[in-house]
Amino acid sequence: MKRVAIFGHPVIHSRSPLVHGYWLKQHGIAGEYVRHDVAPDEAEAFFARFAEQGYAGGNVTIPHKEVAFNALAEADPVARALGVANTLWLEDGRLFGANTDAPGFLSNLDATAPGWDANPRVALVLGAGGASRAVLYGFLERGFDKVLLANRTLARAEMLAAHFGSRVVPIGWEGVPSALKEAQVVANTTSLGMKGQPPLDLDLSVLADDAVVADVVYVPLETPLLKAAKVRGLRTVDGLGMLLHQAVPGFARWFGVTPQVDAGLRDLIVAELAAKGQLEA
Ligand code: ATR
Repeated sequence: MKRVAIFGHPVIHSRSPLVHGYWLKQHGIAGEYVRHDVAPDEAEAFFARFAEQGYAGGNVTIPHKEVAFNALAEADPVARALGVANTLWLEDGRLFGANTDAPGFLSNLDATAPGWDANPRVALVLGAGGASRAVLYGFLERGFDKVLLANRTLARAEMLAAHFGSRVVPIGWEGVPSALKEAQVVANTTSLGMKGQPPLDLDLSVLADDAVVADVVYVPLETPLLKAAKVRGLRTVDGLGMLLHQAVPGFARWFGVTPQVDAGLRDLIVAELAAKGQLEA
């Protein structure tokens, strides 16, 4: 029986075991997906000796995505571009890794807002932290001419933009209102709107009527930003979908079946969020 895990610190709140557990059951596969807390001071040694840990592979979450990447014998192009890995597997005892956050972000947009990238000119990304990288990579990969990157701390946006090249244009937070006027798609990667945080308060009236608004935050499921976008009549894409879609390639790699992100899976996670009081803001 194949055993895989989510590795992070902490991992107690991770929903990944629920997601993969759903697919294991759906496909009648005798596998196991568990949580494995790896203390930060042990992470380097843990991933360096991954083949001895008793797992066929796994997912990596905060704060170990970079340490895991550094331990890889082989990395997929997205992981190489971003310098972080979230999906691991063994081949002949060697550690292979991928980054499925960027493809997960894109698959979620494709599934929820079909045609969103039909004429890719301008995207706006809010935030320049860890989640921002995958989103920037995704927009560039889909051919956007310009990706405006707004961050409260401009220097962080500038550093990230320099990594990605001239199509990513760093702007200060005060530049957001005018950026909204030209953006076809807006993605929040800041912690604003997360339960317990202030909302991301934007004037969405200037957005084009066919613009798409995405949030990587999924607690609450409908962030104040997404709620305001719906009221404005815009298509919205929530962060839970990204979580579900980023899990697909790992499952396929470990268990040999490409699973679907179906309504039953989404309902399961939504019920879990509701049970934990995390559905509402
Ligand atoms: P993650 O790795 O999950 O993306 P992070 O690296 O802590 O998280 O980044 C959080 C993002 O939210 C950053 O872009 C941060 O802006 P700064 O770089 O200026 O810190 C943004 N953020 C957090 N609180 C914010 C606030 N009150 N207003 C604007 N941006 C905020």
